[in-house]
Formats: sequence, C-alpha cells, structure tokens
Amino acid sequence: MDKIGFIFDLDGVIVDTAKYHYLAWKKLANELGFEFTKEQNELFKGVSRKRCLEILLDIGNIEATQAQFDRWMVEKNEDYLAYIDQMDATEILPDVPRVLEFLQQRKVPIALGSASKNAKPILEKVNLLSYFDSIVDGNSVTKAKPDPEVFLIAAKNLEVTPGCCIVFEDAVAGIQAANSANMTSIGIGDPNVLKEANYNFKDFTEINKDFLNLLLKGRCPNIR
Ligand code: BG6
Ligand code: MG
Repeated sequence: MDKIGFIFDLDGVIVDTAKYHYLAWKKLANELGFEFTKEQNELFKGVSRKRCLEILLDIGNIEATQAQFDRWMVEKNEDYLAYIDQMDATEILPDVPRVLEFLQQRKVPIALGSASKNAKPILEKVNLLSYFDSIVDGNSVTKAKPDPEVFLIAAKNLEVTPGCCIVFEDAVAGIQAANSANMTSIGIGDPNVLKEANYNFKDFTEINKDFLNLLLKGRCPNIR
C-alpha cells in the first residue's frame, strides 16, 4: 500500500492567528483613515499578505505608490509579529496536539502547508515545530492558494503521492487547492462555508481516532 501523508494549514487550523492579523490590518486601515471590520477580515483567510493589502486598499479606496505599498506591508507585519511574540502553547487550537501525537506515534509523515511567511517562528513559539517533517510556507511558493502548489511541494517533500495526502484547511481557497491537487480535503470550521471539502469538522475535538484510523486504512491513492 502507498504511504499516506498529512498536511496541515497553520492559521485557523493549528492556531487562531486571524485575530492578530485583524488587529494589525485594522491599525493600518485606521491610520489610513478608514474602518476595517471583522467581517471584512474573513476575506483575508488563506490569502497572501500582498493580496490582503491590495484588498484593504480597495476597501479604503486608496491608491498607493510602490514605495507606500512596500512600507505598509512591512508595517503591518511588524505589528503582527509583536502579537506573535507574545504567543505560547496555550494558543494552540483544541486537540491539535492530540492529533499530531497520534500521527507521529504511527510514524505518519506530517507537513505544514501555509500561505504565511511567519509559519516557522509561530510553530516554534507554540512548541509544535518538532512534529513536522516538512514546512512549506509563503516563502517556498510562487503561486498562492487556491493554486495547489503549496500542497504539491509538501507532498513531494514527504515523498507521498498527492492522491495519498490528507489536508486540513479552514479557508475556501485552501480546500480548493487541496481538491485540485487531488488530495483528500478536510474542512475545519463552518461546513456551510467549506462545503467543497470531502469531510467537515467544527474543530479537532470532533476528530477521533476511529476517523483517523479510517483515513489511514483508506484506499490510496484517493482516500476519500
Ligand atoms: C494565511 C492567513 O495563513 O497567511 C492569511 O490565513 C495571511 O490571513 C497569510 O494573510 C499570510 O500570512 P503572513 O504571516 O505571511 O503575513
Ligand atoms: Mg488558514
């Protein structure tokens, strides 16, 4: 039987960093003279930093020079990193360590597949870095989700066929990326939003060992 691999998104799957991204984007919007709401922040999930700033400036109806754009990217990230610096293991989302531990004990290869360029420092901060055999993040890709590039690189690094990979994602673009990589997609969050996923769970507390064993025994490629 082919080897099975697991790929985890970071923001919104392993840690709830959306609130810190929100605070940093909101500060920038306010400085530029407009409001940025939590509802608008939903549009930023899974989206690259550059694309987020483009959307933010559209919301504020602001035209930027290249120099301003670059400066605001840096400013937002510095504010975001100040929040990240305060993070510790208490910010890991419920039952994520249990699932990682279950997989690691069974020697299942595990990768991170995230749009964030801050993925490694965040995993270090919350003390989960050692679970990952490969980290594929915003620094490793040229195309953002929903392009499957990030997950295909992760599969290659794990030496697992894409059809034998299982992806946990909280963003629509991430589910689409996993699906177009021919991987099994598991939506973490609202099933009405993540309706394209092969499986849906509110969070990891709903993922029990029977389900994980079912995946591990699934027909590979194409476990779903
Ligand atoms: C994704 C987040 O994981 O990473 C997005 O869902 C974020 O909201 C993107 O914009 C890029 O993150 P970073 O840390 O490189 O600014
Ligand atoms: Mg995410």
